[in-house]
Amino acid sequence: MKFGLALLAFGLIGGFGALPPDMAPSQVRISYGEDPTRMMRVMWQTATPTPSRTVEYGETVELGMVATGTQPTYAYQTGAIAEATLYNLKPKTKYFYRVGSKEGGFSPVREFVTADPNPKEFVFTAYGDHGVSPDAAKNVDNVLFEKPAFHLMLGDISYANGVQPIWDKYLEQIEPMTSVIPFMLTLGNHENEDIKVDGKEVEIGYVATLARFAMPGAENWYTFDYGCARFVSANSDAYKAPGHLEWLEATLAAARKDKKIKWIVVLQHHPVYGTSKGRGDNKGLIETVAPIYDRYKVDLVLQGHDHHYERQYPMRANAIASKDKSRYKKGVGTLYVVEGGGGRPNYDFSDPMPEKCAIREKTNGYVRVRVTGKSLVVEAKRLDRSLLEKFEISE
Ligand SMILES: [Fe+2]
Repeated sequence: MKFGLALLAFGLIGGFGALPPDMAPSQVRISYGEDPTRMMRVMWQTATPTPSRTVEYGETVELGMVATGTQPTYAYQTGAIAEATLYNLKPKTKYFYRVGSKEGGFSPVREFVTADPNPKEFVFTAYGDHGVSPDAAKNVDNVLFEKPAFHLMLGDISYANGVQPIWDKYLEQIEPMTSVIPFMLTLGNHENEDIKVDGKEVEIGYVATLARFAMPGAENWYTFDYGCARFVSANSDAYKAPGHLEWLEATLAAARKDKKIKWIVVLQHHPVYGTSKGRGDNKGLIETVAPIYDRYKVDLVLQGHDHHYERQYPMRANAIASKDKSRYKKGVGTLYVVEGGGGRPNYDFSDPMPEKCAIREKTNGYVRVRVTGKSLVVEAKRLDRSLLEKFEISE
């Protein structure tokens, strides 16, 4: 009798076939595994834990294949996190997928495309310092407009700052982008969180970010390839962490020895060079990571942290290597770009503008990079998608 009443109540409240709302999947996000041509990690969240967690996927809307998920946890989390990895995918192939459980129902069917191992060209986008705001939401739309192969998040992601439900708001805001475009992040200072428990600050570090996202390898720092480009996520927030600089050196050395790799792009949160009022250059990074970038002739370093756009002339051995405005020969110097204009209030600049700064503007926006076998074409765009600047590195 009780069971019958419960069933009747469920039918009346939710309608037969409707999802129990506390187990309905939301905040769907995808990211590359170690091999972007053959792996995809899929994550989502439910308000309460579900007895099972699956991704149904396939090359047609009939789906047909199933991956079983795990439930990553961290102290003080909100809701239940689900994560599944899809293996043995075909390169350069469109897949349809949905996430959820038979108990809580499934998400809408969405699509993604696995990485092309040998593209003639491809586009990716990047920005950092995102948060939850109208500007941040507009920049989600901007990435969708550009249809990149993937998006790089340059750290300072949700600005939850310990208040865990803000992560949920953030992940809901970015879901239109992250459910269809692989989202690859680097850690910023705001990912290192303290939370208030009974009026006391408790340090939880990066655990919320690392549980809520899945990056390749060690996650704190990692690398992945797309075509002839190698992307290296350095941890500028803990650059002296045991093993980090050694890993960075070895990773870049291996990249330069690899005949199929033409371009090395580093993503990190803190700028090596910056012209924010009261901040300026980062002496620690100039002394530690910049000489490593010089040694292996890193082509492009994408950074956030300072809430605006700025770009230095190519730098080598801590000096300007070219004063050309927008066309650079590959290897002449490393191009350092700051795009911390993801969606937060902007910072002021120092005055006068330092000589090594090629261009800067107090505005929010994003970076769009087109990669070919011969050139990297970098466009900085404002929030309204107008062009702030365009420069090119070529052979
Ligand atoms: Fe920051």
